[in-house]
Amino acid sequence: MHAAPELTPRPHRIRQLAYADLPRVLAIERRAFPTPWSLAMFVLELSKPSGICLAAIDGAELGGYLICARYDQAYHLMNIAVDPDRRRRGIARALLDAMIERAGADANFTLEVRVSNAAAITLYESYGFRSVGTRRRYYQDTGEDALIMWRALGTPWETA
Ligand SMILES: CC(C)(COP(=O)(O)OP(=O)(O)OC[C@H]1O[C@@H](n2cnc3c(N)ncnc32)[C@H](O)[C@@H]1OP(=O)(O)O)[C@@H](O)C(=O)NCCC(=O)NCCS
Repeated sequence: MHAAPELTPRPHRIRQLAYADLPRVLAIERRAFPTPWSLAMFVLELSKPSGICLAAIDGAELGGYLICARYDQAYHLMNIAVDPDRRRRGIARALLDAMIERAGADANFTLEVRVSNAAAITLYESYGFRSVGTRRRYYQDTGEDALIMWRALGTPWETA
């Protein structure tokens, strides 16, 4: 009789997000957000050569994605979502690790997040993002405020 193969967690494979991924991305997006991005918004971000757009492949399927745009002073993390059936398995971490690696060690990042989104805020804080203020009623669907977060190396809020 053969011994049962040992089960070891499989690392998620990260690769560049492609236009062909967008049907699957939209399916996750619609389950992840009350006001999901449209196809056109994803196409626009994918068309920018300076952006970092990543797919996490879990098994044979796309399990999550990340969209990060490059601006003058900083990268802007615009969207990150993981398939609800695949959460808490390190997919978001794998995406953020790859984003930071591709942007380079001295890159600064900013983002907005709903003040009620404790899961995302905990995740971002664990990556050194710090809250620097709020945008009042930023989200038009619910009127909720956005927390503005920065991960900026060498700035006062990084060393505080
Ligand atoms: C936020 C989100 C991307 C996290 O994805 P994920 O793959 O489940 O995250 P990970 O498994 O990599 O978790 C990394 C860490 O984030 C934090 N975290 C993630 N989900 C959490 C939750 N529900 N509650 C508290 N902390 C959470 C934890 O610190 C976690 O580490 P741990 O599992 O070792 O405790 C996912 O919940 C999601 O897609 N949410 C809907 C979309 C969204 O809100 N995106 C952010 C918009 S700004």
